[in-house]
Amino acid sequence: MIHEIKNAIVNHKLAQLRRKETSPKDFRALVEDIALLLTYEVGKNFETRAIEIETPIQNCRAEFLDEKNFVVVPILRAGLAMADGVLKILPNAAVGHIGLYRDEVTFAPVEYYFKMPPRINEKILLVVDPMLATGGSASDAIQSLKNHGAKKIFFICIVSAPRGLEKISGEHPDVEIYTAAIDDGLNDSCYIVPGLGDAGDRIFDTL
Ligand code: PRP
Ligand code: URA
Repeated sequence: MIHEIKNAIVNHKLAQLRRKETSPKDFRALVEDIALLLTYEVGKNFETRAIEIETPIQNCRAEFLDEKNFVVVPILRAGLAMADGVLKILPNAAVGHIGLYRDEVTFAPVEYYFKMPPRINEKILLVVDPMLATGGSASDAIQSLKNHGAKKIFFICIVSAPRGLEKISGEHPDVEIYTAAIDDGLNDSCYIVPGLGDAGDRIFDTL
C-alpha cells in the first residue's frame, strides 16, 4: 500500500529541500525533520501495550511501544540523514545498514555493505531512503532483508517516482510505502523530475 502524506508542515519542509540553493547543512536538517514527521504517520500502525503506571495523582493504564522491537535501516548513503530523524522519536531502536549505489551506466543497484542486528525476523523494520526513483535500490534492499528473515517492513522515502512505486508494489506487495511526494517521473539519467537532485551529494556536499 502506498501512503502519500499530505501535510502542510511536510510540504513546507519539502519545498525548502527541493530548492537548489539550500545548503548541505540545511538540507540535512530538513531531511531529518521530514523523516521524523513521516515516522509519526507510520506510527499510526504500531501496536502498543497497556501497562499499569502511577502518575503523581493516581494509577492508570498507559500505552507503551516496545522501542526495542524496531530496527531503522538506512540505505547508504542518503538514508543516514533520515535515520537520525527516525531515531529522534524511537531513540531505543536498533540500526541496521545496507550500502547500495546505482551503477552510473546501467542505474542498477550494487550492494557493498549489509549489517543487521540479530533476529530481524522478529522485528519491525523501517527502511529509509529519501529517493525512490527506478526502485532498484529499494527493491534489492528489501529482498536482502527478506533473505535474512525479515517479515515486517515499512519503506519510508521523501520523494518517489511512479516507476519506483510500481516496482516496489509489484515485487513486495507486503511492504507499506510512505512518501512525502509522488513526482512526475524520471529523466534520461533516471533522476526524479522535478525531484531535488542527488540526495547523497546534497547531504554530504560531494557534488
Ligand atoms: C540514490 C538514493 C537511492 C537511489 C534511488 O542513491 O539515495 O538509494 O539512488 O534510485 P533508484 O530508485 O533508481 O535505485 P545513490 O545510488 O545515488 O547512492 P548514494 O546515496 O551513495 O549517493
Ligand atoms: N537518486 C537521487 O539521489 N536522486 C534522484 O533523483 C534519483 C536517484
